[in-house]
Parts: sequence; C-alpha cells; structure tokens
Amino acid sequence: MPSAGPPTLRLVRGDARHLDVIGPDSVHLVVTSPPYPMIPQWDETFRAQGAHDYPGMHRVLTGAWSECRRVLVPGGILAINIGDALRSDREGFRLWPNHAEVTLAARALGLTPLPYILWKKPFNRPNAFLGSGFIPPNAYITLDCEFILLFRKGSLRRLPRNDPARAESRFSRAERDRWFSQVWNDVRGARQRSPRGRSGAFPEEIPRRLIRMFSLVGDTVLDPFAGTGTTLWSALALGRNAIGVEWDPATFRELRESATARGLRAPTRRAATGRDARAPPRPRAGGSGARTH
Ligand SMILES: C[S@@+](CC[C@H](N)C(=O)[O-])C[C@H]1O[C@@H](n2cnc3c(N)ncnc32)[C@H](O)[C@@H]1O
Repeated sequence: MPSAGPPTLRLVRGDARHLDVIGPDSVHLVVTSPPYPMIPQWDETFRAQGAHDYPGMHRVLTGAWSECRRVLVPGGILAINIGDALRSDREGFRLWPNHAEVTLAARALGLTPLPYILWKKPFNRPNAFLGSGFIPPNAYITLDCEFILLFRKGSLRRLPRNDPARAESRFSRAERDRWFSQVWNDVRGARQRSPRGRSGAFPEEIPRRLIRMFSLVGDTVLDPFAGTGTTLWSALALGRNAIGVEWDPATFRELRESATARGLRAPTRRAATGRDARAPPRPRAGGSGARTH
C-alpha cells in the first residue's frame, strides 16, 4: 500500500541461486539482467561458479530463476534482460540462443511465458559484423537486439478494487502505447562505467519502464543480479521497495558505496546474512523517502 511508509532498500551479498534470506511469496516483480552465457566478459564469473560450458552456465541461471519463482507472489512478474551470443566452439561459429534456453527453463519451472520485448539498440557500426562481406550466402546478421523476457507466476495478480496504489501507479495512454509494443528502439545503451571495467549495466530507462508496467507503488522489486544497482535506484525513485543481491565482493562493495552516495546509509551487518542498514528518509515524487533495512 502506498501509505505504508518510505520505500526500503535491502542489499544482500549472496548467490542468486540461494535466496534463503528472502521469504516465499514476498516479491511482486523481478527485474534483472544476468551474466550472459557465452559472452567472454562473463566466462570467469561462470567458471568461478563451476560452469565451464553452455549448459553449465544455464544451470547457474536456472537456479536463480527457480528462486525467483519461489519468492514471487502469485501473479508476480519475472522480467529478464538477456542477449544471445555469437561465438565459435570446436564445431565452428554459431549462435548461442540464450533467450530460448531461458524461456524453456522458466517454462519447465512452471512459470508462464508472456510476449517478450525486443530492445533494439542503436548500432553505430552497421558493417561491424558482415562475416564474409558482400557475397551471399555467408554473411551474418548483426546481433543488435536484446530480449526482455517476461514470465508470470501462476494466474493474474488480484488487486482489491479500491486499492489506492492502483490509481497512483497508472500510466498514461501515450506511455502504454509506447511501452507495450514489442520493439523498443528508443532506449540507448548505458555507459558501462566501473572501476573494474565493463559493468554490464543496462540504462535506467529499462527498469524504470518495467517497474511502472508491472508493479504498483509500495510493491517490492528484486534484482538477484544487482551489479551497479540500476534496478534498485529506479525502484526506490518510483516508490517501490528494492532488494538487490550481488555475488561478486568488489561489485557488492561498489553497490554499497553507491547506496551511501545516494543518501542511503551504509550497511552495518555482514551482507551474507541478508540484512542491510537503515537509511534516513529520502525525498521522492509523491512525498515519501527511502531507507535501507
Ligand atoms: C549483467 S550484470 C548486472 C548489471 C545490472 N543490471 C546493472 O545495471 O548494473 C550481472 C551481475 O550479476 C552478478 N552475478 C553473477 N553471478 C551471480 C550470482 N550467482 N548471484 C548473484 N549475482 C551474480 C555479476 O557479478 C554482475 O554484477
């Protein structure tokens, strides 16, 4: 309910496959972007989690989707931003269809697949991936779209008719027309700033839209692969509670520092316990603030 107080932030240093610190049926929306299998940037991350090949990488991700299913409320939505990969293995150059693997895995977990969004990224160098150039048939299509896969847990979410959060969370007709179309070609990629190199961050506009499309003011939004926290900051700014889980210690440190820099008090307990600190209320549109817990 929107009147329940300022939104809360919870940071957990842990593994998306083991979200024991989050209760069942307690999260209304998951917005996340995992490490992408077969993208070299994430090889080491997967290797450190015991995944040395494509099926193994997806087993890591499937563990996370299973936990998302457990913590989602009935009718809650799981939104996953993922891209396919192009890479050679012993059998040669090929497409690794991550979006298809995730869809099948989520369906096997009992989640209901919904129509997905294709996020078409502006691509500056159209000739960057022509394969054998200008002669058919051996040139390749450029991979310039990512997927935003959508799944629902169970049947439609039921809301009390007079719940004030419904009106407070309304989008406009123009927003609906733009957001609920299948191709998004008006969102630029994020600057991938991180002291450790590329962060894999998505632009704020992605979680901002998804949060407004699939959650109400006062709901709880989870990002089990939190990274730089893009989902979390968007959720708090929109009056939703936020939970972020991050496995990499250095990235988690940066996440915590980022929370502090935003006026959210630094965690006081070991994050592995799943508990975080309290922060003073932070002004937001609509009047309430944000705190961590
Ligand atoms: C693609 S990045 C997420 C970027 C994020 N959306 C942002 O905007 O910054 C994936 C993140 O998942 C983290 N990660 C990898 N394996 C994990 C696991 N098992 N549990 C939790 N986080 C994990 C990585 O360290 C990385 O920060």
